[in-house]
Amino acid sequence: MAGTGTVGVGVIGAGVISAQYLGNLTRFPDLDVRFVADIDLDRAKSRAEEFGVPASGSVEQLLADDGVEIVVNLTLPSVHAEVDLAIIAAGKHVWSEKPIATSAEDARRVLEAAEAAGVRVAVAPDTLLGAGLQTAFRAIAEGRIGEPKSATTMVLNPGPDRWHPAPEFLFQAGGGPLLDLGPYYLSTLVTIFGPVVGVAAVGSIGRPQRTVESGPRAGTTFEATVPTHSALLLEFEGGASAQCTFSFESPLPRAGMFEVTGPEGTIVLPDPNMFEGASTLWTLESWRGVTGHDKPEPEVIAEQGTTFSRGLGVLELARAIRAGVPERASGALAAHVLDVMLAAATAAETGTRVAVESRVTAPAPLPAEWDPTERTL
Ligand SMILES: NC(=O)c1ccc[n+]([C@@H]2O[C@H](COP(=O)([O-])OP(=O)(O)OC[C@H]3O[C@@H](n4cnc5c(N)ncnc54)[C@H](O)[C@@H]3O)[C@@H](O)[C@H]2O)c1
Repeated sequence: MAGTGTVGVGVIGAGVISAQYLGNLTRFPDLDVRFVADIDLDRAKSRAEEFGVPASGSVEQLLADDGVEIVVNLTLPSVHAEVDLAIIAAGKHVWSEKPIATSAEDARRVLEAAEAAGVRVAVAPDTLLGAGLQTAFRAIAEGRIGEPKSATTMVLNPGPDRWHPAPEFLFQAGGGPLLDLGPYYLSTLVTIFGPVVGVAAVGSIGRPQRTVESGPRAGTTFEATVPTHSALLLEFEGGASAQCTFSFESPLPRAGMFEVTGPEGTIVLPDPNMFEGASTLWTLESWRGVTGHDKPEPEVIAEQGTTFSRGLGVLELARAIRAGVPERASGALAAHVLDVMLAAATAAETGTRVAVESRVTAPAPLPAEWDPTERTL
């Protein structure tokens, strides 16, 4: 499918996150959002109406629309792979929410099917393309901390059962804070350090019984069946290391702590689950002349780039398809990150360090002037 001009887009899955996607996708002039589908046809219809999308209906109807070139898969992790395979079988490109799949085999099946069909698979998170992280990547690439050697990341909160109207999937296979939030942190780490070669980890469930706390099903209880707290030690190909904590157990929220250290400094990145935010830089140089218990003022590096949110990756994919160049949020990156998360789960279960065999090349930074609001196609 060569194609010219704006790229037709269809969305499968009209749940919570579809509102953020559709709010952005319908504002990018290079995209033409044509169809919203869901197994719940009423939900698809009301989302389509809310965002002025001309058609809605079943997945089969969406896939039969010849004008749709990219299908955005916003279904649940347990069905991401089967929905992706149906999209690929219809000859369309895939943008999938994370994680790409819940098993390494399913992720490979999706990537192999796409390669055989000559279509692309790109996967969230696209926070990697936002101004906040892109600015930090550029500062690191410019050598502001020297070669990155270590990282510490942490995300703790009481759990999405507090705010999601149907949160069960976030506490079952394919979920937990590791598979739900891991993609943001681990994709960012792999972009900075390159591929992970080994993982050690521990996992635990502090509060197995959970309660839906918002929406029409408030008060419904359910069981968490995967760890709700995971702590990882990662080793990267170049010898660098990171320690990462992911938790749905803490009433004390810590969103997006993300620090990277090299021989010349430490850079504090913005929350990798967000598209914006400044970075702060603590250099060894700035400690010169500082005495006693004083500490230097960090340098604040203001974000530069686009602060549009979810959907940026779909646009970057569309432009990459038309330009015949690789997309940045690649399926290969997502599959490697899934391998790391599954290795961490195995490491926690077995009490061993688990090797990660897959390798991936980190995506190049976006040009600072990359503009989603520009008509380029
Ligand atoms: N909610 C968030 O804040 C958030 C943020 C970032 C990413 N995500 C990711 O987005 C995805 C969706 O999350 P959500 O919170 O919108 O979930 P949700 O439960 O609110 O919505 C999922 C929708 O998918 C539909 N669906 C399920 N299986 C389907 C199938 N086989 N075919 C067609 N439709 C199907 C459901 O009917 C539902 O409308 C998940 O992968 C999640 O990890 C969610």
